[in-house]
Amino acid sequence: MPIRELPARPNLEHLKKQARQLLRGVLQEDASAVERFREVQVTPAPAARLAQAQLGIAREYGFDNWANLKAQVGALSDDPVEALTRLFPTVEDRARVERGMERLKKTKEIRLESDSGTKVTFNMTGRPVIGQYGYTDEPGRWDHWPGAFQYTIPNEGFGDGLLIMDPGDIWYPAKRFLTTPVRMQFEKGAVVSIEGGYDAFMIKDYIEGWKDPEGFAISHLGWGSHPRALWNSLAFQDPLDVIGQDGRTMYGTTLIALGENATFGGKHTTGCHQDFALRRHRFFLDDELIADAGKIIPKDLQ
Ligand SMILES: [Fe+2]
Repeated sequence: MPIRELPARPNLEHLKKQARQLLRGVLQEDASAVERFREVQVTPAPAARLAQAQLGIAREYGFDNWANLKAQVGALSDDPVEALTRLFPTVEDRARVERGMERLKKTKEIRLESDSGTKVTFNMTGRPVIGQYGYTDEPGRWDHWPGAFQYTIPNEGFGDGLLIMDPGDIWYPAKRFLTTPVRMQFEKGAVVSIEGGYDAFMIKDYIEGWKDPEGFAISHLGWGSHPRALWNSLAFQDPLDVIGQDGRTMYGTTLIALGENATFGGKHTTGCHQDFALRRHRFFLDDELIADAGKIIPKDLQ
């Protein structure tokens, strides 16, 4: 039984506001907010997040999850209209992603390098290849608008080297730009040390809060190929109001993730998942340079 009834003309912005207020209440340990979480059986994660408050609001209205509630009110995406319009998918976006997927299917090894000192290698032999281009016309195929990028799930237990993120790279789900370099040492497919300043501390502290070593493991890895994505759009958006796909999908940049990947074909089931969008990295497939700090090198993938 729903605790609340949706109004006759529900509004996504209003529902998002309710979720933000609920989250704020839980973070401030307000007794009535904590009681509302308890009533709909939402357990706060180590750091209560907006997704949990949205789940709580969805359950209060009698829905299983936030996505179903959004679908009910006719909302298709959390990103703002400006981004949805600018990133509206095209058949060219799709063709570019599908060519990227073909290239990934032939790949055994992915290497990242950067002028800052990154050199880290992952193995993807026999792993799934996934592409998103913002729409689908195939029954049963999932996609998400906006976006145009391709990626794989590297083999668990493989992946060694040093990844150095630069100031200006983007950390999700915090949805904010790094302000200090973050050095991540990978051994056997997992991060064994995170060093740097404030950002390194925050990232490490967040993962440790989940108390699950899988949070440090490689999740997914690929490059963005959306020619209309803007790196700086997040600077002008309210992070709580957006998914922030611009950074994840930007043309010629690298997206690397840690943690959960079972929902798209991997083995990690932890609740911890983070994306890191890297603006200035070089992305190699079997020693061939594919993406270089915002440029895509092979003609057929441009
Ligand atoms: Fe991710």
